This record gives sequence, C-alpha cells and structure tokens, in this order.
Amino acid sequence: MSFDKRILITGGAGFIGSHLIRLMVEKYPKYKIVNLDKLTYAGNLNNLDDIQDRANYTFVKADICSPEEIKTVFKEHDISDVIHLAAESHVDRSIEGPMEFVMTNVVGTVNLLQQAKDQWEGKEGNVFHHVSTDEVYGSLGSEGLFEETTAYDPRSPYSASKASSDHFVRAFYHTYGLKVKLSNCSNNYGSHQFPEKLIPLMINNIVHKKPLPIYGKGDNIRDWLWVVDHASAIETIFHKGAVGESYNVGGLNEWTNIDLVNYLCKLMDKKLGRKDGESASLIEFVTDRAGHDMRYAIDASKIEKELNWKPSVTFEEGLESTVDWYLKNQKWIDNVTSGDYLDYYTNMYEDR
Ligand code: NAD
Ligand code: TYD
Repeated sequence: MSFDKRILITGGAGFIGSHLIRLMVEKYPKYKIVNLDKLTYAGNLNNLDDIQDRANYTFVKADICSPEEIKTVFKEHDISDVIHLAAESHVDRSIEGPMEFVMTNVVGTVNLLQQAKDQWEGKEGNVFHHVSTDEVYGSLGSEGLFEETTAYDPRSPYSASKASSDHFVRAFYHTYGLKVKLSNCSNNYGSHQFPEKLIPLMINNIVHKKPLPIYGKGDNIRDWLWVVDHASAIETIFHKGAVGESYNVGGLNEWTNIDLVNYLCKLMDKKLGRKDGESASLIEFVTDRAGHDMRYAIDASKIEKELNWKPSVTFEEGLESTVDWYLKNQKWIDNVTSGDYLDYYTNMYEDR
C-alpha cells in the first residue's frame, strides 16, 4: 500500500504522543504513522491498545540518541516527515539528575535533526515539527503572558534542555534550510498521564487517601490545557503552520496549584461518595521545589488567528472526563506504577 506521507512520531508511547498517534492514525488512513519510542518508565504501549492493529500504524523500539537506529528507521520506512515529542519531561526528575535530560532532550534532538537533514538532502517538502514547552520562557510575575517573541529564560534543568533543543531546531532551519516548525505548549492534563505530574498524582493519592503534597504555599500558577486539544494543535501546526515559525499553544486557563487541588478534591468527593472536605483534609504543604517557577501563562492568539485553532472544552469539562478515566482505569495506574515508582518517590521526599 502506498501512503501520502510516512510520519515518524517520536515519544508516541508517552502521554501526549499517544494522544497524537491516535488522532493521526484515525484521521489520516493515507498516512503511515511510525511510532518510535525507547519505552522508558514514561512510555507504555498499552496507551495505544485500541489502534495497534491498524494498517497505517507501526511501532519501533529505538533510542533517539542512536545515529544507527534512527538512520535505519528513516531508510526502512522512507520517512517523509517527523513530529518529535520524545523527551525526559518531569521537572523534579531533572533536578535530581540533569544528565539524562541533556542526553535525550538535547543530544537526541540534534541526532534526529542530523539524520533528517542527511536523509532528506535534495528532497522538497519534508517537515520537522518539534514539540516544546512554554517553560523555555522562564517564570512570569503576576502580570503578562508568554508570547512567541518572549526571550528565552529557562530556569530548571528540564526547561534548559528543552530551550537548548529549540535553539538547535532553529539552527538547522537557518543553517541547512531544514523545514522546521515549533510549538510551545502550556501544562497538559488528561488520560494516560504518568502519575508523577500534579493532576494524575493528586487523583491517584485522593483515591488511595494518601497525603496530597503541595510544594511551598501552593500559590504557583500554571495554565492548563486538555491533552486532546494539544494533539489537535500539533496536527494543525504540522499541516498549516509556516515553515521556520513557532506557535504558542494554551487555553487561557490559569490556576494556582492550591485552588486546582481544592477543586479536584471537591469533584472527587462527589464522584467517590465522600463527605465534602474529606479529600481536602489530605492536603499537606511540603518543602518547595528548588527554583520553582512562579507563573506560566500563554498568549495563544497567533495560532488562534493565523491557523484558526482553539481549545474544544472548558477546563471543568476536561478535568471531569480525566477524573472519570482514571477512576475507570485503576489497572492502568497499577501497571505503570508497579516498577521503581514507589522507591523513587520515597527517596525524593527523603532527599529534600
Ligand atoms: P512523557 O514523559 O509522557 O513521554 C515521553 C516519551 O518519550 C515516553 O514514551 C518515553 O519512553 C519516550 N522517550 C524518552 N526518552 C527517549 C529516547 N531517548 N528515545 C526514544 N524515546 C524516548 O512526556 P509528555 O508529557 O507526553 O511530553 C511529550 C513532549 O511534549 C515532550 O517533548 C515535552 O517536553 C513536551 N511538552 C509536554 C507538556 C506537558 O504538560 N506534559 C507540555 C508542553 C510540552
Ligand atoms: P508538574 O505537573 O510537575 O508540572 P511543571 O512543573 O512542569 O509545571 O507541576 C505542576 C505544578 O504543581 C508546579 O507548580 C509544581 C506543583 N506540584 C506540587 O505542588 N505537588 C506535586 O506533587 C507536584 C508533582 C507538583
């Protein structure tokens, strides 16, 4: 069967990658989707159980840092485009051990760029879409929003590694003419998110009546977007975005951590048939994260105006569907947390 495009999606067994793969496989039967993932602690092929037998989908276990493995995948599948999501993605882990973040996020990205440049030499039209974060812009005070023109000012090892990868992507555009597109998105939430990030960690702890650790005073602000809307933004930018351009993606949806966790507690008290206030009594204020960025907030007007994209659900709708998914899929949580997860968290709090 011949395909219109043969797209390499990296990190497709992870949280956002699996939502993007599902969208692309279902919506574009004429595209072949090649999911390349190393299957770290954050990657889980069960995330894609529902589409794994589709004729236009295939999985390759490989490391983005390996030149040989990436070259082989490009050749075997005649890759026409790349959407790059594979990364180490958790700020707390980057504080514990930055080197892994440099390897995957910086070296791995440069390796992919290099292979794409070499394999696409003399060809027209191939797109390299790099998926990045708003954290590259640093930390906001109480006013203002991150715009595409905001100067980069990363502060955590995670955001520094993502900023570095963004710079390399632009360098390959300016130096070699690689057709790149970039997106910088705010915090995502939704189904299949590893329970180390705020929302799934809190949902899981509420279910098990475990303490809900709030870093510092809980007044840090994040701007939340439903993962399905992020996937649709990536699809839009990949097809319609201008080459060489960056697009900020977000939902104008700012919450302090403490307000968000209180809201979640109330919602889950209702869902679990608990007394109002029962889950909130589990909240514990713990030592703050080192270098904790105060506020992130995205100005998404460029993607809205130029590409006609906007979020499809309100935060309240998205969060309720997310809670429902986790309550129905306790097996998924048990599965992804069965390895070294508990040891990791016990050590993290003891080390602080
Ligand atoms: P995730 O941690 O859930 O998934 C990352 C995936 O990458 C995993 O499947 C993992 O196995 C894979 N991977 C890691 N190292 C690899 C390697 N060396 N080779 C091949 N595969 C490897 O991450 P996520 O939250 O889905 O984030 C995906 C991308 O989106 C990342 O680039 C992240 O920086 C970016 N992003 C995330 C958010 C968010 O809120 N989660 C927001 C904006 C941007
Ligand atoms: P996180 O989900 O790790 O995303 P990021 O750090 O990339 O924004 O954290 C979101 C916010 O929640 C951040 O301000 C840190 C805070 N947080 C807690 O207060 N407690 C927790 O247990 C976690 C994981 C995060």
